[in-house]
Amino acid sequence: MRWTAPGAELALLSGQPADCLATADDMVRSGRALFGTPTLLGGQAAKAGLSCASCHINGRDNPHFLLAGVSAAPGTADVTNSFFSAARGNARFDPVVIPDLAEPGKIVRDPGTRALEAFIRNLIVEEFGGQEPTPAMLDALAAYVRAVRPCAGQATAARRLEDQLAAIDDGAAGVRTMSELGDASGVALSIAAMRHQLGLVAERYAAPGFARDRAALLAASRRLEAIGDIADAGLLRRVLDGWKRDFDTGLAPRLRGAAARSLYDPKRLDRALR
Ligand code: HEC
Repeated sequence: MRWTAPGAELALLSGQPADCLATADDMVRSGRALFGTPTLLGGQAAKAGLSCASCHINGRDNPHFLLAGVSAAPGTADVTNSFFSAARGNARFDPVVIPDLAEPGKIVRDPGTRALEAFIRNLIVEEFGGQEPTPAMLDALAAYVRAVRPCAGQATAARRLEDQLAAIDDGAAGVRTMSELGDASGVALSIAAMRHQLGLVAERYAAPGFARDRAALLAASRRLEAIGDIADAGLLRRVLDGWKRDFDTGLAPRLRGAAARSLYDPKRLDRALR
């Protein structure tokens, strides 16, 4: 809600551009997980909880994006703004419409040129003041951006618990992929991706009656944090698989069973926003 045009909260929190990908291999899924993780971006963006996906929802655009000092009209942003990066702020306020990454843009997507990787690297480090991404992270992000497609027939979709559960699966694929590539920072960021999604679920189970579920979400997140500290890659992957099994057979079905009473239900969400 922090970056949403007043009056558009319900539309943004209950709907989204439909999500379609040309391929969904492990690299693309790892990239999608990082794309939704605020700590990929540094400084103010990370602090505000903003990720690539806040502006490019499902790799598309966000017509409701509005952040004071960054946007002019809803759906616009100035990514060279000093709000994001003191180093790079160009002292000019020049917001432009957030582009839909499924459409051809000014950045060449041809993998041979690596122009997309260079652009994303600059975006993270120069515009958002984030830490230098590893080659594996950049490969994953670029693979995801290249895979984003418009959906045939269906422009929008409802937001559901299943979005977060799928994003947690993506994060787990990211942990495995980065671990196999020997990329410790990529593993750490993929764990952060999973924990961020658990936090998004907790926000939807806000009612007092869900205290037990929120406690379980927090415990699951803390266990993930500890898993991220395991130095041995093989052990880390085995313990993560155990975490995933417990989550898929314990907390996930419980959350599914209660989703109709959570803020994933548009009517309840509408009432909560009033
Ligand atoms: C604050 C909103 C915002 C965030 C966050 C954001 N973008 Fe963008 N993105 C934009 C805007 C606005 C443009 C258009 C910039 C321009 O035309 O100069 C853009 C352009 C792009 C393009 C170029 C599209 C083309 O024309 O070919 C890519 C690729 C892209 N973003 C990927 C990303 C990735 C990856 C991240 C996260 C690391 C990200 N964006 C984060 C707003 C955002």
